[in-house]
Amino acid sequence: MNILLLGSGGREHAIAQSLVRSKHCSRCWVAPGNAGTAQIAENVNIPVTDFEAIADFISTHHIGLLVVGPEDPLVLGIRDFFEAKKEFSALKIVGPRKFGAQLEGSKDFSKKFMARHGIPTASYATFHDDQLEEAQLYIKSHALPIVLKADGLAAGKGVLICETLAEAQAGLDSILGDKKFGQAGSKVVIEQFLSGIEVSYFAALDGKNFVLLPEAKDYKRIGEGDTGLNTGGMGSISPVPFCDAMFNQKVLDQIILPTVHGLSAEKIDYRGFLFFGLINVGGDPFVIEYNARMGDPETESVFPRIESDAVELMLAIHEQSLDQYTMKISTLSAATVFLVAGGYPEVYRKGDAMEIPNSESGVSFFHAGTKMEQGRVVTNGGRVLAVSALAESAESALEKAMIGAQQIQFEGKYFRTDIGKDLISR
Ligand code: AMP
Ligand code: GLY
Repeated sequence: MNILLLGSGGREHAIAQSLVRSKHCSRCWVAPGNAGTAQIAENVNIPVTDFEAIADFISTHHIGLLVVGPEDPLVLGIRDFFEAKKEFSALKIVGPRKFGAQLEGSKDFSKKFMARHGIPTASYATFHDDQLEEAQLYIKSHALPIVLKADGLAAGKGVLICETLAEAQAGLDSILGDKKFGQAGSKVVIEQFLSGIEVSYFAALDGKNFVLLPEAKDYKRIGEGDTGLNTGGMGSISPVPFCDAMFNQKVLDQIILPTVHGLSAEKIDYRGFLFFGLINVGGDPFVIEYNARMGDPETESVFPRIESDAVELMLAIHEQSLDQYTMKISTLSAATVFLVAGGYPEVYRKGDAMEIPNSESGVSFFHAGTKMEQGRVVTNGGRVLAVSALAESAESALEKAMIGAQQIQFEGKYFRTDIGKDLISR
């Protein structure tokens, strides 16, 4: 079967690696891909939101399976686009419809969904852009810190955690008044601040059944000890030490099952991956957010632990046969360390030549911000490359990932050396 995977990050390189290893994969293309996906699959330079160009490519290359990596095409309705065209009725698609993708695409939609189904989450109120005064009054009587969220997609930047009333007032003005996030900020969700450790759970859903993937934890801040500015993710580990049998059972009973039942009660035929961004508040899980896709950099630790066939998983998601699919998960631990460009997440360097040796056994180099230029791999983004290692313990996976991180050379390279250490040493 010919496969087209949309996306260009480390997540997509990791997913592509699992897809091309499957006996069901004839040819695999990645649009637009990066220098790493070009080595194991074929890149095609089509933007992930250019549905017409994707459709042309699918027709001419006899693609049987379309896997959607990032959220933008899902929220814009790529599944609906193909389902509306008779000539694509045989195309198998992994990713929910536009309606279901609102779980990620609209914070207000996802909060209302959680409220309807009794799913634990921070208490909240939503205000529209003609309710700036009401919103300002609301925050005056609310405890601090307080969390402001632009309703729509804002590339991970639409959340403001405000420690003071003045900050919250200015934040509200910038979202609702000045439209700092454009249309994404035509509504604002104002939320209670929850204090705890964050963790990511993942399920594959076929509209009837679901299977769980391994959980993971990502590290978002640029600096050691989780300090400094937020980033797109500096590393991840899987499994997560505090996710023991008791916590997993709570996550299943209080969050995952009510979500899956809620989707089915509301007749939302959700076929794709669902990401549960959770926070552990004193031993109890709360939902911070849903995402309609896999996470990055979590996927780089999660997919290498999946031993069962990835193409069979994707097909089962589309064909509603996940009840027949056995998810086999490695008992090994995974650790991922992201190499980023000097200056990131502020102004950073681009176009630096990279030296990438062959990786050791059990270690994968998943490219993200890289491209080929005159026969060489050069940096092409803030988050450049993820080094992911599998080993018997979290400590040794981390050690292996560190060795890999040191082997790769480029001007201005930076990475955190403490990924996972806060949890491993507990
Ligand atoms: P989100 O885009 O909703 O995942 O928010 C981005 C980040 O903001 C999360 O990963 C959390 O670190 C933080 N955050 C969001 N909502 C809350 C909350 N209610 N309490 C504490 N932290 C939050
Ligand atoms: N790691 C968080 C995300 O993918 O949104």
